Amino acid sequence: MTIKALVFDAYGTLFDVNSVVAICDKLYPGKGAALSQLWRAKQIEYTWLRSLMGRYEDFARITADALRYASGALGLKLEASHVLRLMDAYDRLAAFPDAREILPALTQYRRAILSNGAPAMLEAVVKNSGLASHLDAVLSVDLVKTYKPDPRVYQLAIDRLGVAKAEIGFVSSNYWDVAGAKSFGFRI
Ligand code: LAC
Repeated sequence: MTIKALVFDAYGTLFDVNSVVAICDKLYPGKGAALSQLWRAKQIEYTWLRSLMGRYEDFARITADALRYASGALGLKLEASHVLRLMDAYDRLAAFPDAREILPALTQYRRAILSNGAPAMLEAVVKNSGLASHLDAVLSVDLVKTYKPDPRVYQLAIDRLGVAKAEIGFVSSNYWDVAGAKSFGFRI
């Protein structure tokens, strides 16, 4: 079967989260890397915990909760303005140069994002990064109220793109997302 659609993860795959690391380091000199690492790890852990417990909250809430945990664990004082600034940075992430170059060229495929991101977060980052016109769909887990790697998330791509499982090529920089998509039956 030929691949008809390419489905991409968002954060860390199409969008470079390094600008968030840079802002962390500006706010907490010398601690930016540690903060952003723990923040990201907790963010993902919270998605798994909430999915397993059936207590979905959207990714904006999870991201802010994880930031509060990470700053507290590292003994960093988190001002309300810091939370706003860091969350805003998420909306303004740059697309990786290779994503900017290659996405416009892949016109023979349907191209979509399938992400944990909340709809408003995804809408903002897609618009600000200039990728909007090169995507046929931007799909948020919010439609099914659970997180990757729950198979219901990957099923969304099939339902919304109208292509068969084996016709979808999936691209992610997250090992657990790759494992989830492969286990579901996408081509990796
Ligand atoms: C996403 C996270 C996993 O965009 O990077 O779904």
